[in-house]
Amino acid sequence: MNQIKRIGISTGGGDAPGLNAVIHAAVCAAHNQGWEIFGIRDGVEGLLDPDSYPDGGLVKLKRESVRNIAHLGGTILGTSNRGNPLGQSDGPNQAAKLVQRFRDHGLDALIAVGGDGTLSIARELNENGLRVIGVPKTIDNDLESTAVTFGFDSAVSFATECIDRLHFTAESHRRVMIVEVMGRYAGWIALYAGIAGRADAILIPEIPYNIAKVAAHIKRKGANHSRQYAIVVVAEGAKPVGGGVTLKEAAQAGHVERLGGVGEFVAGQLFELTGQETRTVVLGHLLRGGQPTSIDRSLGLTFGAAAVRALAEGQNGVMVAVNPPRIDYVPLREATAKLKLVSADGYGVMTARTLDISFGD
Ligand code: F6P
Repeated sequence: MNQIKRIGISTGGGDAPGLNAVIHAAVCAAHNQGWEIFGIRDGVEGLLDPDSYPDGGLVKLKRESVRNIAHLGGTILGTSNRGNPLGQSDGPNQAAKLVQRFRDHGLDALIAVGGDGTLSIARELNENGLRVIGVPKTIDNDLESTAVTFGFDSAVSFATECIDRLHFTAESHRRVMIVEVMGRYAGWIALYAGIAGRADAILIPEIPYNIAKVAAHIKRKGANHSRQYAIVVVAEGAKPVGGGVTLKEAAQAGHVERLGGVGEFVAGQLFELTGQETRTVVLGHLLRGGQPTSIDRSLGLTFGAAAVRALAEGQNGVMVAVNPPRIDYVPLREATAKLKLVSADGYGVMTARTLDISFGD
């Protein structure tokens, strides 16, 4: 394999706290190898459509340019989740064209940071001859091949803080507060924020709920005076027994479906069944904003450093995975193949049940 002199790094898909830490570590580690490193704007858009960018879509990353970014939210490179740019081409071999652009810029390899969409673009580029290392990114914590991803801890911490605040207003008004959180088809954010925030019920995709059971649980707690108000944390992918997820937008060409709205739906039903006033709070993109927690910051640094080490070791076409105490290299094809879902008999669900938190089942 050719010796590396110059590499590119890109961030694609929805942002997650910790992306700038990955960039910081990759830049420092690349410089320590004696390599140059360039950031590609908005996933791979910077290379596909350079004329739309004042800096030509590609920016040289010096140590000084990343000195003070590891603690910042978002991504200094920008990102895009507007579908697969390789799929929008009229010609069949858009990936090969893009690989040629990497070559034109003298880029020997790419560190692609992103979720399943980004990593499948990375795989296509790799299959067309580009050296690629993937770095997983998701606040949803739903990748089977890596024990952890950065962004999750920040999302759970913020959701917990929000729930903590809601206890006061819920108690003052004796209301049922519904808190809808992101997480797509996995209930990890809802589960951990719900436990930490001492919710009364947590509704997650992995355990379809029966709304009458949630209402009965809230009424029982009210009747025995253990709590006159209630907090119900609802994952955006939660669904009733025999029902489906609530959609904000159906899937379209190149775009996945957008979940959302289940909180409001649950609130309406709980009002009917309990007679108690309800209010809904949708935390949405607030969970992705803000600074990474120290855990996510250090995870981001871990992933960025591991990606450069992987390239230096001659790895290619793999995603770095953190499976403590090891860093594993997972072939890109397998990297996002399997979702990691909450196990109904795992310790998280068991803890919640022991603490009298209902899943509506
Ligand atoms: O995968 C991360 C995530 O934040 C999900 O939890 C959520 O469903 C989705 O992205 C939202 O995406 P968008 O930024 O396109 O609204």
